[in-house]
Amino acid sequence: MADTRVNIAGVEWKNPVTTASGTFGSGAEFCDFVDLNKLGAVTTKGVANVPWEGNATPRVAEVYGGMMNAVGLQNPGIDVFCERDIPFLRQYDTNIIVNVCGRSEEDYCEVVERLANEDVDMLEINISCPNVKEGGIAFGQNPKAAEAITKAVKKYAKQPVIMKLSPNVTDITEMARAVEAGGADAVSLINTLTGMKIDINRRQFVLANKTGGVSGPIVKPIAVRMVYQVANAVAIPVIGMGGISTWEDAVEFLLAGASAVSVGTANFFQPNVTEEIAAGIEAYMDKNGFGTVADMVGIVK
Ligand SMILES: Cc1cc2nc3c(=O)[nH]c(=O)nc-3n(C[C@H](O)[C@H](O)[C@H](O)COP(=O)(O)O)c2cc1C
Repeated sequence: MADTRVNIAGVEWKNPVTTASGTFGSGAEFCDFVDLNKLGAVTTKGVANVPWEGNATPRVAEVYGGMMNAVGLQNPGIDVFCERDIPFLRQYDTNIIVNVCGRSEEDYCEVVERLANEDVDMLEINISCPNVKEGGIAFGQNPKAAEAITKAVKKYAKQPVIMKLSPNVTDITEMARAVEAGGADAVSLINTLTGMKIDINRRQFVLANKTGGVSGPIVKPIAVRMVYQVANAVAIPVIGMGGISTWEDAVEFLLAGASAVSVGTANFFQPNVTEEIAAGIEAYMDKNGFGTVADMVGIVK
Protein backbone atom coordinates (compact mmCIF):
# COMPACT_ATOMS: atom_id res chain seq x y z
CA MET A 1 0.00 0.00 0.00
CA ALA A 2 1.32 3.43 -0.94
CA ASP A 3 2.04 5.91 1.84
CA THR A 4 0.34 9.11 0.71
CA ARG A 5 1.58 11.29 3.56
CA VAL A 6 3.66 14.36 2.75
CA ASN A 7 5.62 16.69 4.99
CA ILE A 8 5.31 20.32 3.98
CA ALA A 9 7.64 22.58 5.99
CA GLY A 10 7.32 20.37 9.06
CA VAL A 11 3.55 19.86 8.84
CA GLU A 12 2.34 16.36 8.02
CA TRP A 13 -0.54 16.07 5.56
CA LYS A 14 -2.32 12.71 5.12
CA ASN A 15 -2.18 13.21 1.35
CA PRO A 16 -0.82 15.92 -0.96
CA VAL A 17 -4.20 17.50 -1.83
CA THR A 18 -5.58 20.84 -0.66
CA THR A 19 -8.13 23.34 -1.93
CA ALA A 20 -7.03 26.51 -3.75
CA SER A 21 -7.86 29.67 -1.84
CA GLY A 22 -11.08 31.41 -2.81
CA THR A 23 -12.67 28.42 -4.52
CA PHE A 24 -13.80 26.48 -1.45
CA GLY A 25 -14.89 29.15 1.04
CA SER A 26 -13.83 27.88 4.42
CA GLY A 27 -15.15 24.42 3.69
CA ALA A 28 -18.70 24.89 4.98
CA GLU A 29 -20.13 25.31 1.47
CA PHE A 30 -18.54 22.06 0.35
CA CYS A 31 -18.78 19.73 3.33
CA ASP A 32 -22.04 18.17 2.05
CA PHE A 33 -20.19 17.05 -1.10
CA VAL A 34 -16.67 16.33 0.13
CA ASP A 35 -15.50 14.52 3.25
CA LEU A 36 -13.05 17.14 4.50
CA ASN A 37 -11.35 14.41 6.57
CA LYS A 38 -10.07 13.00 3.27
CA LEU A 39 -8.07 16.11 2.36
CA GLY A 40 -4.46 16.81 3.27
CA ALA A 41 -5.44 20.39 4.08
CA VAL A 42 -8.17 22.96 3.51
CA THR A 43 -6.88 26.32 2.30
CA THR A 44 -9.32 29.10 3.10
CA LYS A 45 -10.42 32.19 1.17
CA GLY A 46 -8.11 35.16 1.72
CA VAL A 47 -8.72 37.00 4.98
CA ALA A 48 -7.71 40.58 5.80
CA ASN A 49 -7.43 42.57 9.04
CA VAL A 50 -10.84 44.19 8.42
CA PRO A 51 -13.83 43.16 6.24
CA TRP A 52 -13.46 43.83 2.50
CA GLU A 53 -16.49 44.31 0.22
CA GLY A 54 -14.76 43.14 -2.92
CA ASN A 55 -15.21 44.58 -6.41
CA ALA A 56 -18.38 45.73 -8.19
CA THR A 57 -20.33 43.12 -10.17
CA PRO A 58 -20.24 41.44 -12.64
CA ARG A 59 -17.08 39.88 -11.28
CA VAL A 60 -17.00 36.37 -12.69
CA ALA A 61 -17.27 35.14 -16.28
CA GLU A 62 -16.77 31.93 -18.17
CA VAL A 63 -13.92 31.84 -20.69
CA TYR A 64 -12.78 29.10 -23.03
CA GLY A 65 -11.36 26.32 -20.88
CA GLY A 66 -11.88 28.06 -17.56
CA MET A 67 -13.13 31.20 -15.88
CA MET A 68 -12.14 34.76 -15.15
CA ASN A 69 -12.78 36.45 -11.82
CA ALA A 70 -12.33 39.84 -10.26
CA VAL A 71 -13.97 39.11 -6.91
CA GLY A 72 -11.46 41.44 -5.26
CA LEU A 73 -10.82 39.41 -2.12
CA GLN A 74 -14.22 39.97 -0.50
CA ASN A 75 -13.93 38.63 3.04
CA PRO A 76 -15.49 39.13 6.49
CA GLY A 77 -12.24 40.13 8.21
CA ILE A 78 -10.10 38.27 10.71
CA ASP A 79 -12.46 38.62 13.71
CA VAL A 80 -15.36 36.79 12.06
CA PHE A 81 -12.93 34.31 10.54
CA CYS A 82 -11.48 33.36 13.92
CA GLU A 83 -14.90 33.05 15.60
CA ARG A 84 -16.73 31.25 12.82
CA ASP A 85 -14.40 29.48 10.38
CA ILE A 86 -11.59 28.08 12.54
CA PRO A 87 -13.96 26.21 14.94
CA PHE A 88 -15.89 24.87 11.94
CA LEU A 89 -12.77 23.48 10.26
CA ARG A 90 -11.35 22.13 13.51
CA GLN A 91 -14.18 19.58 13.62
CA TYR A 92 -12.36 17.77 10.82
CA ASP A 93 -9.16 15.79 10.79
CA THR A 94 -7.35 17.95 8.25
CA ASN A 95 -4.82 20.77 8.28
CA ILE A 96 -6.02 24.36 8.15
CA ILE A 97 -4.10 26.71 5.86
CA VAL A 98 -5.20 30.32 6.22
CA ASN A 99 -4.75 32.48 3.15
CA VAL A 100 -3.88 36.05 4.17
CA CYS A 101 -4.38 39.22 2.10
CA GLY A 102 -3.60 42.85 2.77
CA ARG A 103 -3.15 46.31 1.30
CA SER A 104 0.06 47.13 3.14
CA GLU A 105 2.83 45.42 5.08
CA GLU A 106 1.07 46.44 8.32
CA ASP A 107 -2.20 44.81 7.19
CA TYR A 108 -0.51 41.48 6.48
CA CYS A 109 1.45 41.55 9.73
CA GLU A 110 -1.66 42.37 11.76
CA VAL A 111 -3.47 39.27 10.45
CA VAL A 112 -0.42 37.04 10.87
CA GLU A 113 0.11 38.26 14.43
CA ARG A 114 -3.56 37.70 15.23
CA LEU A 115 -3.32 34.12 13.90
CA ALA A 116 -0.21 33.33 15.94
CA ASN A 117 -2.29 32.11 18.87
CA GLU A 118 -5.02 30.46 16.81
CA ASP A 119 -5.26 26.75 16.16
CA VAL A 120 -4.28 26.79 12.48
CA ASP A 121 -1.49 24.82 10.83
CA MET A 122 0.00 26.97 8.08
CA LEU A 123 -0.32 30.45 6.59
CA GLU A 124 -0.41 31.21 2.89
CA ILE A 125 0.43 34.82 2.10
CA ASN A 126 -1.23 36.05 -1.07
CA ILE A 127 1.08 38.58 -2.67
CA SER A 128 -0.32 37.85 -6.09
CA CYS A 129 -3.94 38.93 -6.43
CA PRO A 130 -4.27 40.76 -9.74
CA ASN A 131 -7.77 42.04 -8.99
CA VAL A 132 -7.22 44.47 -6.15
CA LYS A 133 -5.14 47.58 -6.63
CA GLU A 134 -3.29 47.17 -3.38
CA GLY A 135 -4.18 43.48 -3.01
CA GLY A 136 -0.64 42.35 -2.76
CA ILE A 137 0.38 42.43 -6.41
CA ALA A 138 2.75 45.34 -5.74
CA PHE A 139 4.66 42.88 -3.54
CA GLY A 140 4.18 39.98 -5.95
CA GLN A 141 5.81 41.54 -8.99
CA ASN A 142 8.91 43.01 -7.45
CA PRO A 143 11.53 40.65 -6.00
CA LYS A 144 12.86 43.15 -3.44
CA ALA A 145 9.35 43.91 -2.17
CA ALA A 146 8.50 40.18 -2.09
CA GLU A 147 11.57 39.45 0.00
CA ALA A 148 10.79 42.34 2.36
CA ILE A 149 7.15 41.34 2.95
CA THR A 150 8.24 37.75 3.57
CA LYS A 151 10.75 38.90 6.18
CA ALA A 152 8.12 41.12 7.80
CA VAL A 153 5.44 38.42 8.16
CA LYS A 154 8.00 35.86 9.32
CA LYS A 155 8.69 38.10 12.34
CA TYR A 156 5.11 37.61 13.53
CA ALA A 157 4.31 34.12 12.24
CA LYS A 158 4.14 31.17 14.60
CA GLN A 159 3.06 28.79 11.82
CA PRO A 160 5.06 27.89 8.68
CA VAL A 161 4.66 30.52 5.96
CA ILE A 162 3.81 29.66 2.35
CA MET A 163 4.31 32.59 -0.04
CA LYS A 164 1.86 32.49 -2.97
CA LEU A 165 3.40 33.67 -6.22
CA SER A 166 1.94 35.45 -9.21
CA PRO A 167 2.46 34.10 -12.73
CA ASN A 168 2.16 37.68 -14.04
CA VAL A 169 5.93 38.18 -14.03
CA THR A 170 8.75 37.73 -16.51
CA ASP A 171 10.82 35.32 -14.42
CA ILE A 172 8.96 33.31 -11.78
CA THR A 173 12.23 31.82 -10.45
CA GLU A 174 13.45 35.27 -9.46
CA MET A 175 10.34 35.75 -7.31
CA ALA A 176 10.66 32.28 -5.77
CA ARG A 177 14.30 32.90 -4.88
CA ALA A 178 13.38 36.26 -3.37
CA VAL A 179 10.78 34.82 -0.99
CA GLU A 180 13.10 31.95 -0.12
CA ALA A 181 15.77 34.53 0.77
CA GLY A 182 13.14 36.31 2.90
CA GLY A 183 12.65 33.15 4.95
CA ALA A 184 9.58 31.55 3.33
CA ASP A 185 9.02 27.96 4.49
CA ALA A 186 7.26 26.98 1.26
CA VAL A 187 6.03 28.53 -1.93
CA SER A 188 2.73 28.06 -3.78
CA LEU A 189 1.92 28.84 -7.41
CA ILE A 190 0.25 29.83 -9.63
CA ASN A 191 -2.31 32.48 -8.83
CA THR A 192 -4.49 33.60 -11.74
CA LEU A 193 -3.22 35.08 -15.02
CA THR A 194 -4.53 38.54 -15.83
CA GLY A 195 -7.05 38.47 -18.67
CA MET A 196 -9.81 40.48 -20.32
CA LYS A 197 -13.11 39.66 -22.02
CA ILE A 198 -15.24 42.00 -24.13
CA ASP A 199 -18.97 41.62 -24.83
CA ILE A 200 -19.20 42.45 -28.53
CA ASN A 201 -22.97 43.14 -28.43
CA ARG A 202 -22.88 45.53 -25.50
CA ARG A 203 -19.45 46.71 -26.60
CA GLN A 204 -18.32 46.68 -23.01
CA PHE A 205 -15.98 44.80 -20.76
CA VAL A 206 -17.65 41.71 -19.34
CA LEU A 207 -16.23 42.34 -15.86
CA ALA A 208 -16.87 45.63 -14.08
CA ASN A 209 -13.17 45.60 -13.14
CA LYS A 210 -12.29 45.40 -16.89
CA THR A 211 -9.61 42.77 -16.20
CA GLY A 212 -9.81 39.57 -14.19
CA GLY A 213 -7.75 36.55 -13.23
CA VAL A 214 -7.97 33.57 -15.58
CA SER A 215 -8.03 30.12 -13.97
CA GLY A 216 -9.06 26.57 -14.77
CA PRO A 217 -7.85 23.92 -17.26
CA ILE A 218 -6.68 26.50 -19.79
CA VAL A 219 -3.86 27.72 -17.51
CA LYS A 220 -2.51 24.26 -16.67
CA PRO A 221 0.41 24.01 -19.12
CA ILE A 222 1.69 27.41 -17.97
CA ALA A 223 1.36 26.36 -14.33
CA VAL A 224 3.18 23.06 -14.87
CA ARG A 225 6.04 24.89 -16.59
CA MET A 226 6.32 27.42 -13.75
CA VAL A 227 6.14 24.76 -11.03
CA TYR A 228 8.92 22.84 -12.79
CA GLN A 229 11.07 25.98 -13.02
CA VAL A 230 10.51 26.97 -9.39
CA ALA A 231 11.03 23.45 -8.03
CA ASN A 232 14.41 23.41 -9.75
CA ALA A 233 15.33 26.88 -8.46
CA VAL A 234 14.59 26.68 -4.71
CA ALA A 235 15.10 24.19 -1.89
CA ILE A 236 11.79 24.86 -0.08
CA PRO A 237 8.70 22.76 -0.91
CA VAL A 238 6.46 23.84 -3.79
CA ILE A 239 2.67 23.59 -3.70
CA GLY A 240 1.48 23.47 -7.30
CA MET A 241 -1.83 24.64 -8.71
CA GLY A 242 -3.44 26.01 -11.84
CA GLY A 243 -6.06 24.08 -13.78
CA ILE A 244 -5.93 20.81 -11.85
CA SER A 245 -9.23 19.02 -12.53
CA THR A 246 -8.31 15.32 -12.44
CA TRP A 247 -5.89 13.04 -10.59
CA GLU A 248 -3.87 12.80 -13.79
CA ASP A 249 -3.39 16.57 -13.72
CA ALA A 250 -2.28 16.36 -10.08
CA VAL A 251 0.26 13.62 -10.85
CA GLU A 252 1.67 15.81 -13.62
CA PHE A 253 2.36 18.59 -11.09
CA LEU A 254 3.99 16.15 -8.64
CA LEU A 255 6.25 14.75 -11.37
CA ALA A 256 7.16 18.34 -12.33
CA GLY A 257 8.34 19.03 -8.78
CA ALA A 258 5.35 19.99 -6.63
CA SER A 259 5.34 18.35 -3.18
CA ALA A 260 1.59 18.95 -2.90
CA VAL A 261 -1.22 20.29 -5.08
CA SER A 262 -4.17 22.68 -4.74
CA VAL A 263 -7.41 22.35 -6.66
CA GLY A 264 -9.36 25.50 -7.47
CA THR A 265 -11.77 26.19 -10.31
CA ALA A 266 -12.58 22.48 -10.72
CA ASN A 267 -14.43 22.61 -7.36
CA PHE A 268 -17.06 24.78 -9.06
CA PHE A 269 -17.91 22.22 -11.73
CA GLN A 270 -17.27 19.07 -9.67
CA PRO A 271 -17.61 19.78 -5.93
CA ASN A 272 -16.18 16.40 -4.81
CA VAL A 273 -13.19 16.56 -7.16
CA THR A 274 -10.57 16.96 -4.40
CA GLU A 275 -11.55 13.67 -2.78
CA GLU A 276 -11.42 11.91 -6.17
CA ILE A 277 -7.99 13.39 -6.89
CA ALA A 278 -6.59 12.16 -3.56
CA ALA A 279 -7.91 8.64 -4.27
CA GLY A 280 -6.57 8.74 -7.84
CA ILE A 281 -3.06 9.70 -6.73
CA GLU A 282 -3.02 6.76 -4.30
CA ALA A 283 -4.17 4.32 -7.00
CA TYR A 284 -1.49 5.66 -9.39
CA MET A 285 1.17 5.17 -6.71
CA ASP A 286 0.04 1.59 -6.07
CA LYS A 287 -0.08 0.78 -9.78
CA ASN A 288 3.34 2.28 -10.49
CA GLY A 289 5.17 1.08 -7.39
CA PHE A 290 5.73 4.44 -5.68
CA GLY A 291 6.02 3.76 -1.92
CA THR A 292 5.86 7.44 -0.94
CA VAL A 293 4.79 10.65 -2.63
CA ALA A 294 8.34 12.01 -2.24
CA ASP A 295 9.52 9.16 -4.52
CA MET A 296 7.66 10.72 -7.44
CA VAL A 297 8.16 14.43 -6.75
CA GLY A 298 10.22 16.12 -9.46
CA ILE A 299 11.48 12.93 -11.09
CA VAL A 300 10.87 14.28 -14.59
CA LYS A 301 14.01 16.28 -15.33
C1 LIG B 1 -13.20 32.82 -7.69
C2 LIG B 1 -11.75 32.76 -7.28
C3 LIG B 1 -11.34 33.37 -6.10
C4 LIG B 1 -10.00 33.31 -5.71
N1 LIG B 1 -9.61 33.90 -4.52
C5 LIG B 1 -8.33 33.79 -4.10
C6 LIG B 1 -7.92 34.30 -2.82
O1 LIG B 1 -8.73 34.80 -2.03
N2 LIG B 1 -6.59 34.19 -2.48
C7 LIG B 1 -5.66 33.60 -3.31
O2 LIG B 1 -4.50 33.52 -2.95
N3 LIG B 1 -6.04 33.07 -4.52
C8 LIG B 1 -7.33 33.16 -4.91
N4 LIG B 1 -7.70 32.60 -6.13
C9 LIG B 1 -6.68 31.91 -6.96
C10 LIG B 1 -6.73 30.39 -6.75
O3 LIG B 1 -6.45 30.06 -5.40
C11 LIG B 1 -5.71 29.67 -7.68
O4 LIG B 1 -4.41 30.15 -7.42
C12 LIG B 1 -6.01 29.88 -9.17
O5 LIG B 1 -7.41 29.94 -9.41
C13 LIG B 1 -5.39 28.78 -10.05
O6 LIG B 1 -5.90 27.51 -9.73
P1 LIG B 1 -7.16 26.81 -10.52
O7 LIG B 1 -6.89 26.96 -11.98
O8 LIG B 1 -7.21 25.39 -10.03
O9 LIG B 1 -8.39 27.59 -10.11
C14 LIG B 1 -9.04 32.64 -6.53
C15 LIG B 1 -9.47 32.03 -7.71
C16 LIG B 1 -10.81 32.06 -8.09
C17 LIG B 1 -11.22 31.37 -9.37
